[in-house]
Parts: sequence; C-alpha cells; structure tokens
Amino acid sequence: MVICHCRAVSDGLVRAVVVDGADDVDAVIRRCGAGSVCGGCRPSIALLLAELAAAADDTRVAAVGLRPPSAA
Ligand code: FES
Repeated sequence: MVICHCRAVSDGLVRAVVVDGADDVDAVIRRCGAGSVCGGCRPSIALLLAELAAAADDTRVAAVGLRPPSAA
C-alpha cells in the first residue's frame, strides 16, 4: 500500500526504515523521503510508527511485519 503518494513510498518501505532504526516521523522523512513534499501523509506515518512501537513492546517486529507473532 502506498502511504506517501507524493514520493510513491509504500508502507512496507516505511516499516523497513523503522525496523532499521528510524524512531520518529522526521527520521522516516530523512531515510525514505515519505512526508517530505505536501506532508499530508505524516499523520499516517506517525500512526504506523505508533503501531510498530506497540508491536515492539511484545517482541521486536517480526522481520518487516506489522503484528507481533502472538497476534498473527
Ligand atoms: S503524500 Fe506524502 S508528502 Fe505528500
């Protein structure tokens, strides 16, 4: 799914940069460009970050998946 239409960035790429260490919206913007044009996708990026952080509370996100293994 495309999360940033301006830069054609998928949610999968955002997940990958988060798993690789981007821990806030600005870090995501720096690493993949999502959110760097109109900014309309920044709330979606923030929501995805929150979901990934919640999943990481149970375990590190399995590879690039969104749900922890216990919720799969
Ligand atoms: S939709 Fe992401 S910067 Fe415009």
